[in-house]
Amino acid sequence: MSLSSLSESPSSGGLELLKAKNLSHSFDYLLFENIDLTIKENEKVAVIGVSGSGKSTLLHILATLLKPQKGSVELFGKDLYSLSSKEQLAIRRFKIGIIFQFHYLFKGMSGAENIEIATLLSENKPDTEILHRLGIENVINQRVTELSGGQQQRVSIARVLSKKPRIIFADEPTGNLDDETAHIVMDAVFEHIKKVSGALFLVTHDERIAKSCDRVYRLENRRLEQIQ
Ligand SMILES: Nc1ncnc2c1ncn2[C@@H]1O[C@H](COP(=O)(O)OP(=O)(O)OP(=O)(O)O)[C@@H](O)[C@H]1O
Ligand SMILES: [Mg+2]
Repeated sequence: MSLSSLSESPSSGGLELLKAKNLSHSFDYLLFENIDLTIKENEKVAVIGVSGSGKSTLLHILATLLKPQKGSVELFGKDLYSLSSKEQLAIRRFKIGIIFQFHYLFKGMSGAENIEIATLLSENKPDTEILHRLGIENVINQRVTELSGGQQQRVSIARVLSKKPRIIFADEPTGNLDDETAHIVMDAVFEHIKKVSGALFLVTHDERIAKSCDRVYRLENRRLEQIQ
């Protein structure tokens, strides 16, 4: 490999957006220990692993939602869990987007209202292009409870993309989608990351989607093992 191609590789240059050091966490049993992970701008990282291995827990720790029992997380150069809850909230509101495994939409409202709240809080405007792109423009005014699982999943993705976050944490975002829709959705997410020079931390059971990221890890035996 030539020196010039080395310097152009996304993992060698670029700003570090996320840096986790020495993370350990347990609930009833030790989930993982001594995990280190750095994600730079323009990098997409996928994590796979069997159910119960701790993928969602790791995502929650990286995404401001859960303080690890050991170790530290830096987001945008700041030590996340030594920030005040107000500062953490500002990061959560303006700089990152979390696509949850179980959507967490406001059920009494329409899809459009769910998106409107997210954009109001993050001081953005709803983006109708995203709705077309994700194929939900015709159902967006229906109540969330009237939508199919896959439609709800796409509303929750549209909600996050509309916030225009720099880092997206996505927990099985395509779990309820057929292959074709899953690819349309992931293309929209990848394109967003490129546009904002952002980063993606993706948990998925879909190996093909994982492989379309820059790096792939497997969470197994309490370690994060890089497999791509
Ligand atoms: N808040 C919590 N309190 C107690 N135990 C928890 C909590 N969150 C997760 N766990 C436990 O930690 C383990 C790992 O859960 P986690 O949700 O991180 O797994 P996962 O790898 O995301 O699994 P899946 O692929 O099924 O989503 C499970 O045994 C779960 O019961
Ligand atoms: Mg999970």
